[in-house]
Amino acid sequence: MMTLGVEAVRTVAVLGGGTMGNGIAHVFARSGYTVILRDVQQSFLDRALGTISKNLDGEIKKGSVAAADKPAILGRIKPVTDLAAIAAADFVVEAVPERLELKREVLSEADRVMRPEAILATNTSSISITLLAAATKHSERFLGMHFMNPVPVMALVEVIRALQTGDSAFAATLQLCEKIGKKPVAVNDAPGFVSNRVLMPLINEAAFCVMEGVATAEAVDAVMKTGMNHPMGPLELADFIGLDVCVDVMDVLFEGFRDTKFRACPLLRKMVAAGWHGRKSGRGFYTYSQR
Ligand SMILES: NC(=O)c1ccc[n+]([C@@H]2O[C@H](COP(=O)([O-])OP(=O)(O)OC[C@H]3O[C@@H](n4cnc5c(N)ncnc54)[C@H](O)[C@@H]3O)[C@@H](O)[C@H]2O)c1
Repeated sequence: MMTLGVEAVRTVAVLGGGTMGNGIAHVFARSGYTVILRDVQQSFLDRALGTISKNLDGEIKKGSVAAADKPAILGRIKPVTDLAAIAAADFVVEAVPERLELKREVLSEADRVMRPEAILATNTSSISITLLAAATKHSERFLGMHFMNPVPVMALVEVIRALQTGDSAFAATLQLCEKIGKKPVAVNDAPGFVSNRVLMPLINEAAFCVMEGVATAEAVDAVMKTGMNHPMGPLELADFIGLDVCVDVMDVLFEGFRDTKFRACPLLRKMVAAGWHGRKSGRGFYTYSQR
């Protein structure tokens, strides 16, 4: 079965309205697509739409979205709790929590409900796209679409090809990213893709520098900001991402490659054990005043 070309895509379904899902719904609606936003409870959908509305206000303030367009953008998003509604979608992006069994269940159910020519993408940040593709019957229309947080702001989408992904689904997804103003980069499926495989060892090594007493967190970040022009230091960024997430991703890389170069820094693990998860817990490499 041939998958749809990019011009035929009009309606996009997003599964999960959390941090990533509401951002993904936002960018598709902003670009004129009808969006079916699916979550498991009405209250989660209400919260997602509230966040999208607030983020649109921010864009209006900056001048990147016209105030007059806001009602139409919000009007294009149809919140649903019934998965059967995604039968109307030409393209589906899954953004449910990062748990293998949950993803398998949601993706195989979505695959059954969707039209056979529609494309199905997962926003997983660490699970094998090839493994998830195997949970679907139409794996040639399945691929990874790794958006960055916050989605309305960050340009990159890693478009990840599973072993099973067909050429037409892959090409249409790259084009669709351009249509919503994103910068797609094509990569093949491998642990951490490119983004986390390169970023996380950088953060991990920065943590080793602190653990070994080579430099303070401030000094490590200063070297990378002023010497390498990174907008944020690696440890500031680690606090922003969450130290627990950093350790989880290092573990995925370590297990995926079975290579000790990906072992998580013991200091990171110890900080996570202490409940120092970074910005969200009020303390990581830096301290933050609690909201
Ligand atoms: N947060 C990030 O920075 C980030 C970045 C890139 C990729 N990701 C990936 O994006 C995905 C989602 O992450 P998130 O941070 O948005 O999570 P989140 O917990 O903020 O949101 C997940 C949402 O999915 C909903 N959900 C649960 N089961 C569902 C189901 N069966 N059908 C529909 N919705 C369901 C939850 O109610 C919740 O609203 C994960 O795979 C994660 O690895 C996250």
